Amino acid sequence: MDRNLRIHVYDTQRALARAAANAFVASAGEVLSTRDRFTVALAGGSTPKTLYALLASELRDTLAWNRVHFFWTDERFVPPDDSESNYRMARDALLEPLGVPQENVHAPDTGGKPGDAAERYQDAMRAFFGSGLPRFDWILLGMGEDGHVASLFPGSSALEETERLVVAVHDSPKPPPVRLTMTLPLLNAAREIHFLIAGRRKRDAFSKILRQENAHLPAQQIRPNDGTVDWWVDLEATNA
Ligand code: 6PG
Repeated sequence: MDRNLRIHVYDTQRALARAAANAFVASAGEVLSTRDRFTVALAGGSTPKTLYALLASELRDTLAWNRVHFFWTDERFVPPDDSESNYRMARDALLEPLGVPQENVHAPDTGGKPGDAAERYQDAMRAFFGSGLPRFDWILLGMGEDGHVASLFPGSSALEETERLVVAVHDSPKPPPVRLTMTLPLLNAAREIHFLIAGRRKRDAFSKILRQENAHLPAQQIRPNDGTVDWWVDLEATNA
């Protein structure tokens, strides 16, 4: 198995979230000891909610949150206050409780046309990171039962993107159908990629990952050029 791929299994979702939260704090603390900011791309979906809540409560005093900058790996193309919004979930569970300054919150604007919004989000990222391929310190990803990551779904043309950092997706099999997503070149430029996987529904996809079965899952295309991948999984998601 790839030496840069590390798997951590925990009995319960809460133990899993706590371990991943501690790893986040450790990584951010290490980066912030030598650099002025720590850049994060948050996952969508529901699994990260417990992790966010732990960071915003028990671990709130462990970091200088005004030096942490938050982006999203993907976003549903809905208004920011929509119940389906990944930004809204993170705002309510993490950003507002921590008092993260607005200038540290780099959520994609989901107004106008999806293609234009994708370009605006990409431009904002390039402006923030400067020249070259943006390299996030920490990218948090979930995984769907079909092995999708962010809003990169099996068979999607978005998986073939080699130039753009962000693209619009119009046919997501997971509702809502229209989304913005980071692409593989951007995701694979990260220093650290962390998957947070919980629940029996993920067992089949995760076992294919473990067996390194040639299943053409989007999650199997997450191979950072010069970084690490940690899988944080609960027992339910493993065959154990
Ligand atoms: C989304 C996410 C998506 C999610 C997985 C897992 O916007 O839905 O980006 O990739 O991370 O589908 O979702 P759950 O954590 O809800 O199982």
